[in-house]
Amino acid sequence: MVGDEHVSMIPAAHTKVWNSEVNGQPQEVLAPSNAVLLDVLRDKVGCLGVKRGCDMGTCGCCAVMVDGQPRLSCLTMAQDVQGSTITTVEGLADGAHLAPIQQCFAEHGGSQCGFCTPGFLISSQALLDKNPNPTDAEISTAIEGNLCRCTGYQQIIQSIQAAAEIHRGDASPAKPASSAHSDPHPSGPN
Ligand code: FES
Ligand code: FES
Repeated sequence: MVGDEHVSMIPAAHTKVWNSEVNGQPQEVLAPSNAVLLDVLRDKVGCLGVKRGCDMGTCGCCAVMVDGQPRLSCLTMAQDVQGSTITTVEGLADGAHLAPIQQCFAEHGGSQCGFCTPGFLISSQALLDKNPNPTDAEISTAIEGNLCRCTGYQQIIQSIQAAAEIHRGDASPAKPASSAHSDPHPSGPN
């Protein structure tokens, strides 16, 4: 405090343009130059499926794919991935149709409270994109950075194996239980 004037000890970050392709859409937003990718995706781009769990790189809830590689968005400076192709959990589905990995998590109990699920789906999809025939050990390695306190992990491994079968063409995706319909409250319940 100088006289009546408050002087911050931490200089404010300046705002910079950030642009990347997120879930197939070009995005150009203004964000603090020191923002982490998690905050830009949630607060500027609106991808609320990217979850903040620990905010320190231990839970995996915030995982997204950057140029096809899973990354922890809470530990990634947004400016460092400027111009990348980013996929969040919202980008896995094909329009109204769930991706096989999403469908299999739902069918095999891989998602219970669901808070960890976006991160698991991203890590799993990144694995299946490279290796559609993973062993259980390879799956365990791929998801070792994701924590789940509900499922005990076995159902998650079963879900990923079931999705792998669909990716290999050894099984068919289940038919949707109902056809997609428009949001009855597009501007909220009120
Ligand atoms: S919120 Fe990023 S690892 Fe937990
Ligand atoms: S389903 Fe609840 S933490 Fe994983």
